[in-house]
Amino acid sequence: MTPVSEREPVISVAPTRESSAPSSLEPVFDLRELSVSYGGASALKDVSFGIQPNIVTAIIGPSGCGKSTFIRCLNRMNDLIPAAKVEGEVLYHGQDLYADEIDPVQVRRTIGMVFQKPNPFPKSIYDNVAWGLRVLGMKDDLDGRVERALQQAALRQITGASRPGGLRRTSESWRYAAACFDRSS
Ligand SMILES: Nc1ncnc2c1ncn2[C@@H]1O[C@H](COP(=O)(O)OP(=O)(O)OP(=O)(O)O)[C@@H](O)[C@H]1O
Ligand SMILES: [Mg+2]
Repeated sequence: MTPVSEREPVISVAPTRESSAPSSLEPVFDLRELSVSYGGASALKDVSFGIQPNIVTAIIGPSGCGKSTFIRCLNRMNDLIPAAKVEGEVLYHGQDLYADEIDPVQVRRTIGMVFQKPNPFPKSIYDNVAWGLRVLGMKDDLDGRVERALQQAALRQITGASRPGGLRRTSESWRYAAACFDRSS
């Protein structure tokens, strides 16, 4: 089997469809010659395209082709992997997310992710959903905010169990992750 370091990256960018977006719209993300390597092994090479607002953009490809690597570039999660080296530009509403003056923690506050597998803290569901609010000092109406987040994720009826393990089905866990992420209401 070819060692990872000698393989060509498999990710490629499909041509933009004619009818997909009004051309006047500014892209939310504008990726310019984005490349990522891990300890010298290339995972993404020269990826350039725009992600338009209000359109679902799907990244599809075989396991190991670089989907997660790519998505982690969008909110600087690759910074947390010491071997990862990111080159090129990631513009978010025209701002380079990798510019010196950018605070990566603020980037991750603004650009969130729902992960493939939810990874809740070993606390109650209430405490997991309330976690971000407490960190941000948003303590007014905590009960109401948690309640609304769970209702909006259609989880209120099945969260009688006080521990995250009480959510058994993948779809439930997924909605739970969404409730933890979207605490704005
Ligand atoms: N933390 C890491 N350290 C070293 N190499 C990594 C790391 N994360 C990913 N890679 C390598 O980068 C390449 C792309 O991996 P990535 O996880 O981005 O692929 P993927 O498309 O998300 O795969 P999957 O469909 O299995 O989730 C693979 O060769 C993988 O082994
Ligand atoms: Mg992945």
